[in-house]
Amino acid sequence: MSTPSLSLPGGTWTLGDLTVTRFGYGAMQLAGPWVMGPPADREGALAVLREAVDLGITHIDTSDAYGPRVTNELIREALHPYPQSLHIVTKVGATRDEKGGWPPARRPEDLRRQVHDNLRSLQLDVLDLVNLRLGDAEGPQPGSLAEAFGTLVELQQQGLIRHLGVSNATEEQVTEAQSIAPIVCVQNMYNLAHRHDDKLIDRLAADGVAYVPFFPLGGFTPLQSSALSAVAARLEAAPMSVALAWLLQRSPNILLIPGTSSTAHLRENISGAGLTLSHEDVTELDAIGR
Ligand SMILES: NC(=O)c1ccc[n+]([C@@H]2O[C@H](COP(=O)([O-])OP(=O)(O)OC[C@H]3O[C@@H](n4cnc5c(N)ncnc54)[C@H](OP(=O)(O)O)[C@@H]3O)[C@@H](O)[C@H]2O)c1
Repeated sequence: MSTPSLSLPGGTWTLGDLTVTRFGYGAMQLAGPWVMGPPADREGALAVLREAVDLGITHIDTSDAYGPRVTNELIREALHPYPQSLHIVTKVGATRDEKGGWPPARRPEDLRRQVHDNLRSLQLDVLDLVNLRLGDAEGPQPGSLAEAFGTLVELQQQGLIRHLGVSNATEEQVTEAQSIAPIVCVQNMYNLAHRHDDKLIDRLAADGVAYVPFFPLGGFTPLQSSALSAVAARLEAAPMSVALAWLLQRSPNILLIPGTSSTAHLRENISGAGLTLSHEDVTELDAIGR
């Protein structure tokens, strides 16, 4: 496996004591349709993971709930023993039901089981970063995270987790988590068209905490906008490239984890995210989410 390249667009960021490339990879959609079951093209999925690492990516986002277990097992098969530079970020707090739903599972015993499941399926002794996934499929929901987050802090103190983060969280929950223990990232839905967290991103940047947008390309509903198409046409670039470049330029604490099951898209996204957007481009793109 190649040594990581520092020439990926955006350079690197430090999560606690872990250096990661700001251009990462989100593995969720490597599982079957609606993130259930095995992928249609298993060899293709393994190839994408290996290509991501070969291209220098050192941040892979996953969860044992993807598949369930499918994504973690693909990561292990493709990449174990892991290069020292690679950091796999996982999340706990939701499970899967037989209909493919994502019911919350945040009782202390649920979280302990999920941490141990992730350790086993990824074949690791310690998880580099675990996000506590809050809310539900509709998005963040209010309520205290103290008991659930406290359980993860205990597991961290036992040496099973290096760093903690929160996901699908309200601003109040981020503040509550920070009052209990340090967090190194917040992973929430955010992209050109969904800018609810604008204020939170700026606050976290000032605190030195990473913001990791999920669905950076729109997720199951790919981003579509005439303004995005117009800027992309002017730059002779793909709209997805422009969407990623906009995120990297939006704030230095933003880390990208776009998903793809295609090595061609992976390469296109890496080169596209390095586009330089002018003030005029950014003004036009900013209007999409307002
Ligand atoms: N914390 C949470 O609650 C939560 C929720 C959702 C997701 N996540 C994380 O966020 C990561 C990213 O989310 P995501 O993968 O669902 O959504 P995404 O990155 O916004 O979009 C992925 C989709 O975009 C397509 N795509 C990628 N590159 C493309 C390109 N160059 N041209 C055209 N289409 C392209 C992919 O299709 P192809 O396969 O055809 O390329 C895939 O369907 C996930 O992998 C997961 O790790 C976290």
